Amino acid sequence: MNIILLGPPGAGKGTQASRLEAERGMVQLSTGDMLRAAVKLGTPIGMRAKAVMDAGELVSDEIVSGIIGERLDMPDTESGAIFDGYPRTAAQAQALDGLLAERDRQLDYVIELVVDEEALVDRVTGRFTCARCGAGYHDRYKQPKVEGVCDVCGSTEFKRRPDDNAETVRTRMAEYRAKTAPILPFYEEKGLVRRVDGMADIDAVGAAIDAILDSGS
Ligand code: AP5
Ligand code: MG
Repeated sequence: MNIILLGPPGAGKGTQASRLEAERGMVQLSTGDMLRAAVKLGTPIGMRAKAVMDAGELVSDEIVSGIIGERLDMPDTESGAIFDGYPRTAAQAQALDGLLAERDRQLDYVIELVVDEEALVDRVTGRFTCARCGAGYHDRYKQPKVEGVCDVCGSTEFKRRPDDNAETVRTRMAEYRAKTAPILPFYEEKGLVRRVDGMADIDAVGAAIDAILDSGS
């Protein structure tokens, strides 16, 4: 099964994708995570992407569709992928169609996380992750079970994203509204879009997504 999780910054795409990966053996393909890894390694792509990401703007379609194409050639994606933060433009949606068709794969669902933008600033500015394993947390909505210790790997080091400040989040939201939300009709015409209330708590959002994936319709 191949699914897209679509929604603005802080909608919960990464939270739900990593849960689906852990519970269903699907692979999370987050272009944001891949780009941040490239920035950290200082690769040529990372060096080009850093300033764009820090400003909250979109990295070029060629770069992101290129890294997704390379990732889809790895065998772990054959049993199913969760596209988290990709596609984000009409050109990327077209590219993904081609990338999947070339590999005899198809999209099963596009799940839109429907959220109230005002609440998202709070979600994004309160987000932090484990510096060792990347597990995601929030200052209020998802705290580690033991304060200061990662639930997953026990590390005591955490980090925050440079683009997770109130000002950059506004730019990221504007980019979503202008370039990403307009791709929904492309998938609606194909009958693939399902909507989930992204304002519900994390477990309820997960249950709603599971119900869609298990319904087969
Ligand atoms: P990316 O990393 O994709 O960031 P984003 O789209 O802005 O989305 P986020 O990761 O901020 O939000 P999320 O929906 O994953 O939320 P999360 O689950 O963490 O992209 C970053 C940048 O990279 C872009 O700005 C761009 O420059 C570049 N880029 C990436 N992909 C690109 C592409 N395809 N094309 C061009 N450029 C690209 O949740 C947020 C917080 O809320 C967490 O703390 C979580 O614990 C909490 N939370 C989650 N769900 C709930 C809930 N239901 N209730 C309460 N709290 C919740
Ligand atoms: Mg994310």
